[in-house]
Amino acid sequence: MKNPETLLMKLHYFASKLEFLIDKHNQDQMVGYYSELEEVIDDYSSFITNGENENQWHNLEQTYEISLLIEKLRKMSANCVKIMEKYWALKYLHETEEMTDYFRNIEVCIEKELSDFPITNKSKVLVVGSGPFPITLLSIAKRTGAKVFGIDIDDEAILLGRKVAAKLGNHTIQIENKSVNELQSIQQISHIIFSSTVNCKYDILEQLHNLTKKDVMIAMRYGNALKSLFNYPMETVDATKWRIVEQIAVPQGVFDIALYQKV
Ligand SMILES: C[S@@+](CC[C@H](N)C(=O)[O-])C[C@H]1O[C@@H](n2cnc3c(N)ncnc32)[C@H](O)[C@@H]1O
Repeated sequence: MKNPETLLMKLHYFASKLEFLIDKHNQDQMVGYYSELEEVIDDYSSFITNGENENQWHNLEQTYEISLLIEKLRKMSANCVKIMEKYWALKYLHETEEMTDYFRNIEVCIEKELSDFPITNKSKVLVVGSGPFPITLLSIAKRTGAKVFGIDIDDEAILLGRKVAAKLGNHTIQIENKSVNELQSIQQISHIIFSSTVNCKYDILEQLHNLTKKDVMIAMRYGNALKSLFNYPMETVDATKWRIVEQIAVPQGVFDIALYQKV
C-alpha cells in the first residue's frame, strides 16, 4: 500500500463488500455468495497481516470518521466470520471440505498460543465465544487430551458446534449458551481462552476474578493497530486483580494473544 489514502480507499472497499454480504445474509439470499464471502475474509486476513499496510496504518490520521469506519469494519467482519463459520460447519456436516486461508491462519495462531499456554490432559479449558465451527476447542482436545468447554451467545452456533464435534467423534466437548457465572464447572477451569471478536471480553475477565480458582490462566486474543480492524483490541486491566504474564505476537496471524494470571 503506497500511501494512507490508498489504505483508506481499501478500507472503504472492504466496508462495502462486507455490508453487501451481510445484507444478502439478512435477506436470506446467501446462496451463490459463499465463495465471495470466503474470498473477502481471506483477502481481509491477508490485508491486516501485511507489514506494508501496517506502516501506512500508522500514517493514517485518526479522525472521528475514520474511527467510526474502523468500529464498523470490526463489527461487520466479526459478523461475516460467524456467517462463514456457520456455512463451513454445515458443509463439514454434509461433506469434507478444504480449509480456507482464514482457517489455516487460525490453526497457526492456536499452535503459537498452545506453545506458551501449558495445557495437559489434566487441564479443564473454557473457550468464551467458541463459535459454530469450534476449531479452538477441537484442536485443544485433540492435541492435549484436556477436557474442553465452550460458551457462546448464539444458539445456532451452539447447535452447529455440538454437531461438528460429534461428527469428529468427540462427544465430551460441552458447548452451552451460558454466561461465566452460570457455568457449574467454572471453579474447576484451569485455562480460559477468549475469542478476539467477543466485544465485552474485558468485562467478562473482570467478572472471572471472583469466580475462578487462584491459579487460572487466561489467554486473551486481541488485535491492536491494523489488526483492530478484525479484532477487539487489548485493554488495560485492574492491576490489583490481573497481571499480564506474556504477550504473544503472531506476525502472520489474524490476532495476537495476551496471557494473564491473578495477582
Ligand atoms: C465466530 S467465533 C470467532 C472465533 C475467532 N477465531 C476468534 O478468536 O474470535 C466468535 C463467537 O463469539 C461469540 N460471542 C460473541 N460475543 C460473545 C459473548 N459475549 N459471550 C459468548 N460468546 C460470544 C459469537 O456468537 C461467535 O460465535
